[in-house]
Amino acid sequence: MARRKLLMGNWKMNKTSAEAKEFAVAAKPLAKEARAAHVDLGVAPTYLSLATTRKYAAKTMIVAAQNCHFKESGAYTGEVSIPMLKEFGINWVILGHSERRAYDNETSEKCNAKIKALIANDMVPLYCVGETLAEFEAGRTKEVVGEQVRKGLEGLSEEDAKNLVVAYEPVWSIGTGKNASTEIAQDVCHFIRTVLKECVGKSANKIRILYGGSVKPENIKAYLSCPDVDGALVGGASLKIESYTELLRNIK
Ligand code: PGA
Repeated sequence: MARRKLLMGNWKMNKTSAEAKEFAVAAKPLAKEARAAHVDLGVAPTYLSLATTRKYAAKTMIVAAQNCHFKESGAYTGEVSIPMLKEFGINWVILGHSERRAYDNETSEKCNAKIKALIANDMVPLYCVGETLAEFEAGRTKEVVGEQVRKGLEGLSEEDAKNLVVAYEPVWSIGTGKNASTEIAQDVCHFIRTVLKECVGKSANKIRILYGGSVKPENIKAYLSCPDVDGALVGGASLKIESYTELLRNIK
C-alpha cells in the first residue's frame, strides 16, 4: 500500500516570526513541485510563529506545533492547549522529541495522553521515538524503541491510529552529523511497523514512519529508498530555504 512521502522540518527554538514568514513566502513555489512528486511538505515552528507561518504557507506546507498539553485548559503555567492550536488552524503536533524527553520530562506516558487528546480532536500526532547512544551501544535499540511505541500508543484502536505518524530518531544522530546507516534505519523502522501491527492492527500499514537524525540533501534519497521509511524529520537542514528545497528535490 502506497504511503505518501513526508518531508517535515523541525525548526526547534529557531526563527523569529519575521524569519518564519520569510521562509514561508519563499517556500510558496515548492507547492507545485511537491504535489507533482507526491510529497507532503511540513514545518514545525515555535508556538509564536505558528500563526504567521500558517498564514503564508497554508497552501504549501503542513504547519505543526512542537508540543501541546493534553488538558483543554487550566492551571498549567507556560503550556498551550489543543483548542488554542486548533483556533489557529494547526492540526499537527510533534510529540516525544528526544530533546523534550531529555530536558522537559516528556515521557511516553505523557505522550500517550497527548496522542489520545489529539486524536479526539481529529488532529495528527507525530510521535518521536529513539534510543540514546548508551542504549544503542548496549544493543538495546529495539527494547527501548519498542517500549516507547507500546506505551505511547496504549489504548488506541485501529481506527484511532489511522492518521498517526511516527518518527524514528536515534538520539545519537540528532544534530551530530553521525548518521544511522540506511540498514539501521530500515531495520528499526521495519521493527516499529511490526510493533505498530501488534498495537493497532491493520492501521500499521497506513502509518507513515519517518527517519530523523542528521538528514541532509546528500543522504535523504538513500533513507527514502528504504521500504519502511516514508519520509524524514529534519532539523538543521530544514532551516534554510535553499537546503529545504534541495531536500525536496532529492527525495524525488
Ligand atoms: P537534525 O535534527 O536533522 O538537526 O539532526 C533532527 C531532529 O531533531 O528532528
